[in-house]
Amino acid sequence: IREDALKQIDASDSLGELDALRVSLLGKRGSIQSLMKEMKNLPKEEKPSFGAAVNELKQSVSEAIEKQKEVLAKKALNEKIESEKIDITLPGLRPSHGNLNPLNLVERELEDLFVGLGYSVIEGDEVTTDFYCFERANIPQGHPARDMQDSLFIDNEKLLRTHTTAIQMQVLEESAPNPIKVVCPGKVYRRDDDDATHSHQFMQMEGLVIGENVPLSDLKGTLEFVARKMFGKDREIRFRPSYFPFTEPSVEVDVTCHMCNGKGCPTCKGTGWIEILGAGEVHPNVLRMAGYDPDKMNGFAFGVGLERIAMLKYGIDDIRHFYTNDRRFNETFDRFD
Ligand code: PHE
Repeated sequence: IREDALKQIDASDSLGELDALRVSLLGKRGSIQSLMKEMKNLPKEEKPSFGAAVNELKQSVSEAIEKQKEVLAKKALNEKIESEKIDITLPGLRPSHGNLNPLNLVERELEDLFVGLGYSVIEGDEVTTDFYCFERANIPQGHPARDMQDSLFIDNEKLLRTHTTAIQMQVLEESAPNPIKVVCPGKVYRRDDDDATHSHQFMQMEGLVIGENVPLSDLKGTLEFVARKMFGKDREIRFRPSYFPFTEPSVEVDVTCHMCNGKGCPTCKGTGWIEILGAGEVHPNVLRMAGYDPDKMNGFAFGVGLERIAMLKYGIDDIRHFYTNDRRFNETFDRFD
């Protein structure tokens, strides 16, 4: 029995198997226990030595089991360590990350260009007053130009700004009578039905330069520089007469189409030109109201829609893409980051 038991114990290669073996050898109905039962059939004088022998057998079997138990436990631990080994040379999983919206890309690009030209970037509040949004911009109550911008009023005085000109009117007032060179980017709001080219909320960036004898040709040179940086070095720009209440003269600015180089294509509707912004000489009334003497200081202003620039630059066909946060759309701009 002993040899057989020790052999079996040695051969067992899992803790479960070893425990089953323990039960079959040492358990109440195990083979060693049944030896004890046979003792009663032995002659009296043999009983003590038989008992001692069985006890010794029991002892050595349970010692062997304990020893094997340790061996197997160690083995199980080693296997576990082996199987859970971490390969630190495996390439990691790239966590998905967001990226800038193309509007922010365009905003930053323009800001960089203007900062490079010596402008400061000033932001203002999205909720402004009728006073700065219209009155100071030479659009008094009842002026027909108020219809150019359907407004979202909050109460009699306050409204969501319809153009970033509202920021500029505050900058003018705060800076008078000193020179100014700023760009003002931000969200603006108008009462409009959303479709592929209209949005009740969009972004503008307006520029304002005030100084002594600022010629309109400075405006043209500045916008030409920016258009070439944004749309390619061969771009030309042209001024067309226009009307804004806060500028006089006012112009609309076209750039030669970057898709066909001015030859005429669907993007520019065959004309070779694309309208990109409004601009003009700051109206003397606007200067006067803010505290400037129009005979001493003058300057120019321009206002550009960032959606329009982004749509032209990246070939986006629907303004709503900017705001629906579809990751398939947003991720397209990862590489421009
Ligand atoms: N504020 C005008 C608009 O919202 C744009 C503009 C700004 C035009 C400055 C001329 C000068 O359409």
